[in-house]
Amino acid sequence: TDQSRVDDLIARMTPAEKAGQLTQYFYFRLPPGATPALDFDADAQPAQVEAALRDGAAGSLLFVADPAQINRLQRLAIEGNRLGIPALFGFDVIHGLRTILPVPIAMAASWDPVTIARGQAVAAREARAVGIHWTFAPMVDVARDPRWGRIVEGAGEDPFLGAAVAVAQVRGFQGAEVGAPEHVIAGPKHFAGYGAALGGRDYDEVNLSDSELWNVYFPPFRAAVEAGAGNVMTAYMALNGVPAAGSRWLFTELLRETWGFTGFVVSDANVARSLVTHGFAADLTDAAARAVTAGVDLEMAIEDPACAHLPAALESGAASAASVDASVRRVLEAKVRMGLFDAPFVDEERAREVLADPAHRDVARVAAERSAVLLRNEGALLPLDAGALSSIAVIGPLADSPRDTLGPWVFDYDLDETVTVVAGIRARAGAGIRVEHARGVPVVQREFPSLFDMFGRNTPADPPGFDDAAELTAAVDLARGADVAVVVVGEWQNMIGEGASRSSLDLPGRQLELLQAVVETGTPVVLLVMNGRPLDLRWPAAHVPAILDIWYPGTQGGAATANLLFGDVSPGGKLPFTWPRTVGQVPLVYSHLRSHEPENQERRYWDEASTPLFPFGHGLSYGHVEYAGLSVDRPTVTADETVIVSVQVTNTGERAADEVVQVYLHQRHGSAARPVRELKGFERVALAAGQSRTLTFSIGPAERRYWNAAAHDWVSDASTFDVWAGGDSTAPLTTTFEVSPA
Ligand code: IFM
Repeated sequence: TDQSRVDDLIARMTPAEKAGQLTQYFYFRLPPGATPALDFDADAQPAQVEAALRDGAAGSLLFVADPAQINRLQRLAIEGNRLGIPALFGFDVIHGLRTILPVPIAMAASWDPVTIARGQAVAAREARAVGIHWTFAPMVDVARDPRWGRIVEGAGEDPFLGAAVAVAQVRGFQGAEVGAPEHVIAGPKHFAGYGAALGGRDYDEVNLSDSELWNVYFPPFRAAVEAGAGNVMTAYMALNGVPAAGSRWLFTELLRETWGFTGFVVSDANVARSLVTHGFAADLTDAAARAVTAGVDLEMAIEDPACAHLPAALESGAASAASVDASVRRVLEAKVRMGLFDAPFVDEERAREVLADPAHRDVARVAAERSAVLLRNEGALLPLDAGALSSIAVIGPLADSPRDTLGPWVFDYDLDETVTVVAGIRARAGAGIRVEHARGVPVVQREFPSLFDMFGRNTPADPPGFDDAAELTAAVDLARGADVAVVVVGEWQNMIGEGASRSSLDLPGRQLELLQAVVETGTPVVLLVMNGRPLDLRWPAAHVPAILDIWYPGTQGGAATANLLFGDVSPGGKLPFTWPRTVGQVPLVYSHLRSHEPENQERRYWDEASTPLFPFGHGLSYGHVEYAGLSVDRPTVTADETVIVSVQVTNTGERAADEVVQVYLHQRHGSAARPVRELKGFERVALAAGQSRTLTFSIGPAERRYWNAAAHDWVSDASTFDVWAGGDSTAPLTTTFEVSPA
């Protein structure tokens, strides 16, 4: 049986071989001439890793996506070492492998678990076909500070939405269970609190209260674990003073003993070693012992893993044989469940077919269409009326950049297959409309190499020899002569992601100046925003009639954008974060506690309002959705009963609408002060013109309970509860119900 196979292997393994199974190496083969983004010996590294595979000193690799390479390395592992244990291949398949989906924050903006799961299932199918067994995704870290570059990888600020998106991603990546055909192991990350880095500075320390941890930061992890995720990755940093990878509380007491996680835990890159850097472990032997004792099974390493010191830690008694064996067992069980002992190699021909499957592109296009958020549409400028147009000027440095269209955290993409905004509009507009592009200004003033362009495929932000003055004039002239100008602004994709925080949310470079000059021509302007974090759009929000957030939309981004612009589909995405006016307001969340002077809400900054530019949950469609008839099935319930909330939504507009109906809750009094509103239900619905629907939502004990820091436990208070239903977190339509004392 599988179990006896694992037992038998463990019984035959030496301490060094056990340490090997607990070691995962990056494997980098950079193209000739490429500069490694990280500090390591790029020439020597592949040979070292291959030797480790042969010696049984490595049980897993990451960063190989070529099926021929994977087969070659797998052969080394199986035929090279004494026990013939196959290697587990992991990779950051964050939003697609070859077919690139919108970035995760965009998919979260769809508020549509079906679209998200379908997208990640395509990512998994491509990954598994090339021989990848496991993805380091989803990132389920709640992020409330847009300066932090990794906000692009998550689901935004809210634990309820975050948990729903986490579950959808785990199901998409992993299928029904670990080992499902055409799927990969899902690895929610980074446990825990990584998104709350001080000042938004990546890797900086995190200090979170008990209440924030349990009520905000843990729920998406717990949901991902309950959905069956086979792996969890540690955070890099210290949480409340204890480096995460050394925290037995996080990985053993909470994750395994309280939440019942049965999979394996991987450290983030070099994180076991960094227990020494953090001033926590005395040396590498201590680090290896403390990580494995905490419950961290596999160490992800670039060079010199701390795990190599595990035999010494076993000998000195610093690490127990029981904890090392438990970790080895979890890793071997994952290999067994993924079928590696029976079918370790991949079919390279089939991999090529899967990567070229046109159905994957359709999924990516629909995901991009459903992710876009219509922030503003004054005078119903959108959708464009193709019949009334003879020319469109597409302006901006990102409008025809395939690499930026894909966004960060992609490696195996195909730029030739990527549809930019310019290409998408051209194809959709057809022969009767002249579509011309001008870049106008460079997107950034200085190069900033991406930490994660490990394959050396870094693309410069702007072409050399860019003539600012001439290009700006040409762009403005083009806009002046067109029927409509579509201006694309945003961040160069290297400005966001890991190690890419910003101290400002301004539009980089001279993009605002370009936009202002185009608006001044008097030509109607549609603004498209290509981003993974909120940017300072105060001027555009006051002066540009139509603003559509298309995020980094992926391989089919331009095609999806064109379908939205011309009204083939209605936008229906909603913001998964509160959009601040300026970086000075950060962090700004909708689910804050009341101050003692709530009426003074608006006037707390001398120089700026305290309110957001766009609220959490905001997003328009081409229809006009009205809410009415909000009611609860019973005015009073007991603590263990469920309230059914009903609301009627009607599309009173002339075009089809797509709406995310949202339900918010507030507890008026109790054993702790509770946020002014918290999301507790949502559903995305399509409404034809004139169509009405009644939707129901359950508000049960699970939606009402919260972690009370003083009690150090979950509590459910008897109280009066306010309920709101509407299209964003400021929805005015409200009712109440009571929870009576037990
Ligand atoms: O998966 C990532 C992680 O999110 C950040 N550090 C590196 C890992 C592997 O690329």
